[in-house]
Amino acid sequence: MFSPFPYNPGLHSWGNAVKIGVLTGGGDCPGVNAVLRAIVRKAEKGGDLVLGFRNGWKGLVDGMAEPLTASSVSGVLPRGGTLLGASRGNPFRDPQDAAKCENNFRHYGLDGLIAVGGEDALAVARQFHQRGLPVVVVPETADSDLAGTDQAFGFDAAVGVAVEAIDRLHTTAENHGRVIVVEVMGRDSGWVAAVSSIAGGADYCLVPEKPFDIEDVCSAVRRRKGRGRNFSIIVAAEGARPRGGPDRGGPEGIGAWVAREIEQRTGCEARAVVLGHVQRGGAPTAFDRLAATRCGLRAVDLVRQKRFGRMVALSGLRVVDAPLPAPAPGDRALDMELYRDAEIFFG
Ligand code: F6P
Repeated sequence: MFSPFPYNPGLHSWGNAVKIGVLTGGGDCPGVNAVLRAIVRKAEKGGDLVLGFRNGWKGLVDGMAEPLTASSVSGVLPRGGTLLGASRGNPFRDPQDAAKCENNFRHYGLDGLIAVGGEDALAVARQFHQRGLPVVVVPETADSDLAGTDQAFGFDAAVGVAVEAIDRLHTTAENHGRVIVVEVMGRDSGWVAAVSSIAGGADYCLVPEKPFDIEDVCSAVRRRKGRGRNFSIIVAAEGARPRGGPDRGGPEGIGAWVAREIEQRTGCEARAVVLGHVQRGGAPTAFDRLAATRCGLRAVDLVRQKRFGRMVALSGLRVVDAPLPAPAPGDRALDMELYRDAEIFFG
């Protein structure tokens, strides 16, 4: 699909077209390819050109670029991941790398850059914007922890994977009379945990926003046992924090830590299942494809209108745009009303 790097800008004449650079930074998630497809298709319809940079910001540092055309994005809509590759690199760790990005931006004669990514990509984009680089962000996150947007694509897929896993684990937990702790994504926020707990019918849910007492979890397990339900499903966000216990469960991770504590304290056999990156792989859901496509289309508008330093966002189901927010871990903390709804179903 890609010709050998680096792309030689002298080989192509850009004429008067708007030249849009695009990169996919940070952790990937299903739907990123749908954004790329939408950007390219919309740009081509208006006679504009798109240059894709490989592996996130690293591609802009190293000048690893390739023109993206309708044929390069053909068939990618249902495909997970990103055809450009992703990385978590931050060019501001080395001032020379940041300068290389700016030089390459000029070298390729770009009019604007669209960065698709999560909180780390957002932070880098914001710094570039403050230095005068014309940048627009399309947010993506499995964790749903980005400020400035009600949701981003990637979250629906992550929740879908978690709920399917919970459904499957219910039957085996019940058959064996076990407690199964399902560790889901969410370093700093409990959105995936709370939504999948409610949608999957879990018996307890642990989130980073609310440090928990392991004895409360054990009590729920015992209460269920007292009612003849000798199995339980506990959903734990990877960033959940036990009061008086190791942060996020220490080196073994929160799922394993909670399972071991439950087994020791209640005598019930317990297992931990870490869903991890499974939640970030595979085909995007219909919701994510729609959100990703519409956000990609809107990003092209922003570049054409020279409205830089902005992020495309979802406000409910509407696609809007907003100034790039200053990112901070946990800045879009879980809505505790949602957590209280999940609590109704605890043990
Ligand atoms: O930011 C989303 C996320 O999926 C987190 O939930 C998780 O902790 C992290 O990314 C994993 O990052 P990496 O892919 O770099 O291991």
